[in-house]
Amino acid sequence: MQALAISGSPRKEGNTWQLLHVALEVLAAEGLETEFVSLHNKVIHPCLACGTCQKKQNQCVQEDDFQEILPKMHLADILLVGSPVYFGSATPNLMALLDRAGYIARYGDNRFFRKVGAPIVVARRAGVNFTYAQLLFFFMIMGMVVPGSTYWPIAYGLKPGEVLQDAEGVETVKNLAKNLAWAAKKLR
Ligand SMILES: Cc1cc2nc3c(=O)[nH]c(=O)nc-3n(C[C@H](O)[C@H](O)[C@H](O)COP(=O)(O)O)c2cc1C
Repeated sequence: MQALAISGSPRKEGNTWQLLHVALEVLAAEGLETEFVSLHNKVIHPCLACGTCQKKQNQCVQEDDFQEILPKMHLADILLVGSPVYFGSATPNLMALLDRAGYIARYGDNRFFRKVGAPIVVARRAGVNFTYAQLLFFFMIMGMVVPGSTYWPIAYGLKPGEVLQDAEGVETVKNLAKNLAWAAKKLR
């Protein structure tokens, strides 16, 4: 079984990156193959609402880095996405990825259906619950199975690496990863 974690931060090795790696270490210890994708060096344009994916199943007309990431998302048994909070929201590049993947799924054969997954969120101070809810909308409308943790999977930090000092946040994400592995194994 495979677990894919996608960081929506434009920062290489920032807090979202590091927190997702905490989750991936737990998933690897649970016996899953793991893969990490960071959007910091990727170009993903917003959905054009051109309707091509409504006519040609599972295809997007825009030739950018989305084309290499979507098959990885389809293949994964567990999908984790992480975002820093930007003015109370998820990052635009992560939302562009989810908008396009989601529209293709809705007009194609929804390869996310009953896949296990969850979002995690990082912030300096505020907006975590809004952003967690914003990302949950994707998982829920796709019919995915989303486990909880011992708290909402959020953590605090400003400068890269600070998030690892948030002991409760790190513990919550580790427990989320254990629940993701548990659910994926049960549903296999
Ligand atoms: C454009 C921008 C907007 C931000 N907006 C918020 C915000 O609304 N709330 C907050 O607590 N932190 C905010 N932050 C801080 C980041 O969420 C925080 O530094 C986070 O750790 C960055 O994660 P990263 O290292 O994975 O990029 C903002 C940062 C940037 C660059």
